[in-house]
Amino acid sequence: MNKKLKIGLFGLGCVGQGLYEVLQQTPTLNAEIKTIVVKNKNKKRSLSEEQFSYDKNLILDDPEINTVVELIDDSEAAFEIVKAALQKGKAVVSANKKMISEHFQELLDLQKEFKVPFLYEAAVCASIPIIRNLEEYYDNDLLRSIEGIVNGSTNYILTKTISENLSYELALKQAQDLGYAESNPILDTGGFDARYKLQILIAHAFGQVLRPKDIFHQGINRIGELELRYAKEKNLKIKLKARAFKNEEGRLCTFVLPEYVKSSDKFYQVDEVYNALQIEGCFADRQFFVGRGAGSYPTASAVLSDISALRYDYRYEYRKLNSEYEVANAEDTYIKALLRHPSSEADEIRTKFLQVDEHYKSREQAYTIGVLNLKEAKEILKEEQRSLVLISTLSQKDLEQLQSPYEEIAWAVGNGG
Ligand SMILES: NC(=O)c1ccc[n+]([C@@H]2O[C@H](COP(=O)([O-])OP(=O)(O)OC[C@H]3O[C@@H](n4cnc5c(N)ncnc54)[C@H](OP(=O)(O)O)[C@@H]3O)[C@@H](O)[C@H]2O)c1
Repeated sequence: MNKKLKIGLFGLGCVGQGLYEVLQQTPTLNAEIKTIVVKNKNKKRSLSEEQFSYDKNLILDDPEINTVVELIDDSEAAFEIVKAALQKGKAVVSANKKMISEHFQELLDLQKEFKVPFLYEAAVCASIPIIRNLEEYYDNDLLRSIEGIVNGSTNYILTKTISENLSYELALKQAQDLGYAESNPILDTGGFDARYKLQILIAHAFGQVLRPKDIFHQGINRIGELELRYAKEKNLKIKLKARAFKNEEGRLCTFVLPEYVKSSDKFYQVDEVYNALQIEGCFADRQFFVGRGAGSYPTASAVLSDISALRYDYRYEYRKLNSEYEVANAEDTYIKALLRHPSSEADEIRTKFLQVDEHYKSREQAYTIGVLNLKEAKEILKEEQRSLVLISTLSQKDLEQLQSPYEEIAWAVGNGG
């Protein structure tokens, strides 16, 4: 079946404009934008004024419009639009990860009740076709882990600050100017956006509907000069990574943390606005997906793919939902990490580690590298002047082989840290 789609489009910003242009170049799609609704009446537009409306009901109440494409930057207004559209039996495409993640269960219920498709490939890793792959190709029992760089603007900022010595502020400004950053940049830099995406990935990969706040996260906004210099001197890069993996007991461990990555690691080469995901299965071993993770056309291409899939009534089946997984306790997940903290806290911090490998202290600040569990890390990071960068995760076998004594300063960050 190849049905004609009449589209009501909400939002003509970075992604909406991209979609508009991409659709003009895809006449074979049999999809036409009938109405565009935006917010600000006084904004200068690239299209003529008569092409815009400001009343959402002009789309929602139009029986001719069978497809709503929601591309706005306000998650609560977006939820109201999506909910009303689904209730009216219209198929919906969205790129709004915050809205989808925060209302995941309600959106599942709406899809079930009104029997309409709701697709959101662009919400996770923009141009990488990951959700449909997780839905269609990967069987629940075969997946061990999914990990990746899922936020384009933080990867852009980290690339510029580490490899090109740009200041954090300038790199963020560039990411905003290029249309990579959210309207509220703390959503990206604070790791919230990566957490929303991980929540969506977990639902499709492992069938668990977590609340975003159940996923431990730290962004890149606390990373300071000390962590950057450590990376440069050791030829490492820092990547903000989202992880979900089954531990030895089959329990699901999840978190979003900045991570030191070695030059031998595939993620090391993933720079600028690119995203990457590594999926590990029991038999297929590892597979690596890479592609642009933000920006007008790459994100629009995923929206376009969803629109195209609606022509043959594609919908997510959510076959893995309600799988019998338990989520691991934070105290059972062990990590090796570099923790920066004020020098005055060095003795107290050291006691939180199961093993300390390195310890450095200057007049103002200190760092400790060692093994600690996620529950302890969460507690420690409640104080804002502390920052953590992951080095590795530990298996049960790694834990059994831990040795105790540590090296009192293997590396110095220079005069006073
Ligand atoms: N940018 C990316 O690279 C990217 C990547 C993946 C996903 N996304 C997601 O895609 C969505 C759109 O992002 P964007 O970067 O295109 O945002 P944007 O450039 O800030 O554009 C937002 C658009 O939404 C419109 N809008 C806001 N509130 C509205 C409302 N209540 N009713 C109607 N229109 C409203 C704005 O109208 P005015 O034009 O009148 O201001 C504007 O056209 C977000 O959910 C974002 O998370 C973005």
